[in-house]
Amino acid sequence: MINFTIKMFPMIEQINKILTEASQINPSNIEVSENFRIKYLSKKGILNQLFEDFKNLPPTEKKETGQKLNDLKNSLTNKYNELKDNASGVADSQNKSDLSLPGDSFSLGSRHPISLVRNEINDIFARLGFTVTDGPEIEDDWHVFSALNFPLEHPARDMQDTFFIEKNPDILLRTHTSSVQVRVMENTQPPIRMIMPGRVYRNEAISARSHCFFHQIEGLYIDKNVSFVDLKQTLLFFAKEYFGSDTEIRLRPSYFPFTEPSAEMDISCNCKGKGCNLCKNTGWLEILGCGMVDPKVLEFNKIDPNIYSGFAFGMGMERIAMLKYQIKDIRIYSENDVRFLNQFTSAL
Ligand code: PHE
Repeated sequence: MINFTIKMFPMIEQINKILTEASQINPSNIEVSENFRIKYLSKKGILNQLFEDFKNLPPTEKKETGQKLNDLKNSLTNKYNELKDNASGVADSQNKSDLSLPGDSFSLGSRHPISLVRNEINDIFARLGFTVTDGPEIEDDWHVFSALNFPLEHPARDMQDTFFIEKNPDILLRTHTSSVQVRVMENTQPPIRMIMPGRVYRNEAISARSHCFFHQIEGLYIDKNVSFVDLKQTLLFFAKEYFGSDTEIRLRPSYFPFTEPSAEMDISCNCKGKGCNLCKNTGWLEILGCGMVDPKVLEFNKIDPNIYSGFAFGMGMERIAMLKYQIKDIRIYSENDVRFLNQFTSAL
């Protein structure tokens, strides 16, 4: 057997001793880690002293000792960081166990203003006996257009207004929640009293006033002897409940393929006719479209128009929220800016 005897340079021996000594320092608190720093790493500490001594070594020892010295420097710095982390961890856990300290705060989320509008409108109509229904956002031509009496050449059927997913047969993103009316009618015989909130899509340029998606809420009421008077009274009730008891409404003649007669409803502006920017000095704000369900639409959906009649209405929730919370730009609803959203924490 061959025996090697390794002759060590004296400084290397010293370095090894320091390494073992330093590695045995455990566990730590702030005092221990600070003493460690002073002893080994400070200006007058052991490491600096060794680097001073290193300068006077004979050249034959320099290479090997130099490497060892650098290793020592790394080990001591790592060890010091470890002790320091350990010490602050101990301090933290000591703090945590102090039960008299105030707890960590956590922030509660808030409802999105569109959800607030939807919930409040659902509630108001629930008091009149309306139940909430929804339907798919991806629809076919029948439910969005044909069953609602849209003529074939109607511009809404154009790519410019509607997002098509497939052509022939047409599959598209619904452009209004009236498609849910059709889904309700085809599955239910009257009496029908339903409210239908949901997201809709239109191929429009995004600006402060229009977006490629927004939310509507639609109502449908079908029974025997339902007349325009019922429509008007229901919407007056809603306007007073939602916007305040002194709110007035007015109905202007309009046109929708699925209602006859059709109307546009305005509510009185808060300026009470004095004229302001919001109502462009007219004293009125347009909020929804409505009308008596066209007998043809009832027929398409296998409801006998000789026995039943009904009304429908639909409004944009973004617009309602804009009026209620004085919001000027429709884009803000989908920007997820917490500075905007935080403002609704106290609502509903
Ligand atoms: N669907 C119509 C729109 O998107 C609104 C409406 C609904 C009008 C129901 C009348 C009856 O503009």
